[in-house]
Amino acid sequence: MDADHVLKTTRSVRLRLDFERPIETSVIEECLEIALQAPTASNSQQWQWVVITDPEKVAGVAEVYRKSFEVLAARPPEERPSYGAEDSRTQQSEGVTRSATYLAAEMHRCPALLLACISGRVEDLGPMAQAGVYGSILPGAWSFMLAARARGIGMAWTTLHIRHEDEVAELLGIPADVTQAALFPMAYFTGEDFRPAPRVPLEQVVHWNAWGQRAP
Ligand SMILES: Cc1cc2nc3c(=O)[nH]c(=O)nc-3n(C[C@H](O)[C@H](O)[C@H](O)COP(=O)(O)O)c2cc1C
Repeated sequence: MDADHVLKTTRSVRLRLDFERPIETSVIEECLEIALQAPTASNSQQWQWVVITDPEKVAGVAEVYRKSFEVLAARPPEERPSYGAEDSRTQQSEGVTRSATYLAAEMHRCPALLLACISGRVEDLGPMAQAGVYGSILPGAWSFMLAARARGIGMAWTTLHIRHEDEVAELLGIPADVTQAALFPMAYFTGEDFRPAPRVPLEQVVHWNAWGQRAP
């Protein structure tokens, strides 16, 4: 599959998940091998990839996720985290809310979850070191999502369970000095393909040589 097409059409898949179809271990391993080619600070490779296929553990993690989702869902929309991009968020928020609600309710049916982790904690670090920690797991996690998408597997990048990170750590035996960066509930997707999504236009977010200078 053409790289640009994969990059432009790797969507958060929540509704189009085929819970009945198992994911082969070999396919998950193939995607993880690709993830291991991603960059890390000083080539540190402190990442740890927790694959969860035991249905009881999948259900346990899904329950923690659902609990955190309900906290978010109970807030009025204006109090939910916006991460800045109000325009495109408003356009998409209804669809996102519907599919996110579905995922929260059905996550326990996923044949597999992937928890992308990294050794070390960020709480006491300055911004440069924090960027080094998260920057050494997020590229690999995104590579995994892209590789899986190219093989017909859909997922959403999720972080909501991290509100109760310690509960998931206990369930899976993850040591206290390991940071959980993202959780990927995955399944083969149904239907054919995905489309590029509307985004805040480039001219509103690009800066050439100085902040606010929109043209090169
Ligand atoms: C850091 C991060 C955290 C996210 N957390 C969640 C989450 O907890 N639950 C969820 O359903 N989607 C989550 N998402 C997915 C976003 O909602 C999604 O990427 C966004 O709406 C754009 O849609 P698209 O990925 O289909 O283009 C997260 C995405 C990122 C990058």
